[in-house]
Amino acid sequence: MVVERLLFLNRLQDQPKRYAYRLSEQIKARLARKRGEGLELFIHYVFKNHATILSEWYAAKADAHYLQRAFPSYGERLRLVWAQIYKKGKPIDYVLGWTPFLGMQFRVQSPVLIPRRDTETWLKSFLKDAKGLQNGKDLKILEVGTGSGCIAITLAKNIKCHVTAIDKSDVAVQLARQNAALNSVANVKSQRCNVFDNEAIRSLKGPFDLLISNPPYIPQRHWSSLVSPNVRRWESTQALLGGTDGCNFHRRLLDVATMLRISTVVLELDGSESQVNLVRDIATTKGYCLIKSLPDIANRTRAVILSNANAECGLR
Ligand SMILES: C[S@@+](CC[C@H](N)C(=O)[O-])C[C@H]1O[C@@H](n2cnc3c(N)ncnc32)[C@H](O)[C@@H]1O
Repeated sequence: MVVERLLFLNRLQDQPKRYAYRLSEQIKARLARKRGEGLELFIHYVFKNHATILSEWYAAKADAHYLQRAFPSYGERLRLVWAQIYKKGKPIDYVLGWTPFLGMQFRVQSPVLIPRRDTETWLKSFLKDAKGLQNGKDLKILEVGTGSGCIAITLAKNIKCHVTAIDKSDVAVQLARQNAALNSVANVKSQRCNVFDNEAIRSLKGPFDLLISNPPYIPQRHWSSLVSPNVRRWESTQALLGGTDGCNFHRRLLDVATMLRISTVVLELDGSESQVNLVRDIATTKGYCLIKSLPDIANRTRAVILSNANAECGLR
């Protein structure tokens, strides 16, 4: 029945029509495999991967009642999901309470930032570089602004390391701990710490080989134009806003790296060329140089690896 209804798209324009057919085939195959096993998986698959086309379709042809008829045994749950997503604009990940990240499952809870595909992409590429930094020993890593713990836990799962993960938010620290347990990771220690508090930073148990962070980086002037109302409503402003030029945290993180004598720093950026240039200039003034750019899904520079010019770096 889902398939039949999806084929309603036949009556829409050409481009979605072809897509709808492929989509209906994929859903049919997936449902056959997952029947009775994973409504959540199905919803995630449909909504997350095909949000645009489906929203067109729903807007044109369907409503919550249709979903209830299509999946009677899940009727009430679907009605709730529908109401939260479409009426309140709540991200699907918060509604379901989890999100996939590099093949793992992470609990998510508003207002802690939902891990992004762009972060997944550059981090996957960085894992190869991280192995080059190891030099046969376990890396000691400081992650700043851990949120759900997705970066720290991915590193801990994939390379030999010990990660200290800090965040200013109590909710984030609790969530990161739950996610470490959920993914059976023991080598991540998450703790509450404000990165702008010198005393708290000095009390961290180093020394560290690497500082890594996806810091808040949206420039104040782009707040209303770049950040969608749903993101502003459900995700923490503290996780996103990076001051006037978006680089308050990048400056501070390089100062922290200097203070703790950390030779390699990896920082996520907003994907614009201007922020890459700005961070490169900031790094230069603080004695670090850009040694590698890491791409996002659109192949823009989404993170940079910076090295203290005086230090030995396994990547050079
Ligand atoms: C962009 S989110 C990144 C979350 C997660 N690492 C990820 O990639 O999905 C930035 C994080 O920095 C945290 N944060 C903001 N200000 C901070 C501060 N002064 N000290 C420590 N963490 C801070 C926020 O609470 C948020 O969890």
